Amino acid sequence: GKVAVLLGGSSAEREVSLASGTAVLDALKREGVDAIAFDPAQRNIWELKSLKVERVFIALHGRGGEDGTVQGALEFMGIPYTGSGVLGSALAMDKIRCKHLFQSAKLSTAKYAVVDKQSGFDAQAIIKELGSVMVKPSHEGSSVGMARADDDIALTEALNNAFKFDSQVLVEQWIEGREFTVAVLDGKALPVIEMRTPRGFYDYEAKYKESTTEYICPADISLAFTEQLQVMASHAFELVGATGWGRVDAMQDANGQFYLLEVNTVPGMTETSLVPKAAQVEGMTFDQLVIRILEQTV
Ligand code: DAL
Ligand code: MG
Repeated sequence: GKVAVLLGGSSAEREVSLASGTAVLDALKREGVDAIAFDPAQRNIWELKSLKVERVFIALHGRGGEDGTVQGALEFMGIPYTGSGVLGSALAMDKIRCKHLFQSAKLSTAKYAVVDKQSGFDAQAIIKELGSVMVKPSHEGSSVGMARADDDIALTEALNNAFKFDSQVLVEQWIEGREFTVAVLDGKALPVIEMRTPRGFYDYEAKYKESTTEYICPADISLAFTEQLQVMASHAFELVGATGWGRVDAMQDANGQFYLLEVNTVPGMTETSLVPKAAQVEGMTFDQLVIRILEQTV
């Protein structure tokens, strides 16, 4: 039956999603699947029913696609789809609620403060408590609206910028160290990837524009660290109710301590994205990975 690849959408990550969705669509076609592209920012989502779409591959990133809303519409239409359901999608898109869950499960994560646009904030008090921080809009992806702040003036500026994207902002203690990610496929953690960038952190530019970003997979860490991180990633993935496939991001400080950052339920899926890189190390081609994810809908 016909498969629709949902791509684009109206989130801040629209461009990334168009790249992911196009790569997925091309792979499905190469594999002989009857697949069409469908952009919910340009067409009414309910048209999927009249188009007689039998399964959906969700390649939407960010709000209105990765956050449970589209998943809910598909549930309503009775059309099977890839990846996490409504609950896991909605929770993973909410960085603040994920912090609460990580803490209650005793999963290591950086100290933080929550700032609400309506309630205002005391930048000096936050810096005094946490030191250098990373400011993150609670419901964004791809590092959109994120900035590091080392003093109250920079924090005020970073928060005011983050409020353009979200009324709830997470302020996390800065972790000086290495950045890792773990892809999860059908409940299993794939080989760990380390991302290295000469920029301050693995930001939007480093993710999509910079040729200086390095990816090391399998990551050059001990087997014990690898296993520790994979267990942590699988635990976090299940904890937020994510299913099928996704990617869990983490940091490691100079003492070897890992800190969970977040769970992504629709990670980037261009041919050079992180999940395909990890799958490749497992011996899976991009096309095989796409088919494997599609199979989750049956
Ligand atoms: N939010 C981007 C697409 C990612 O996690 O890969
Ligand atoms: Mg993310």
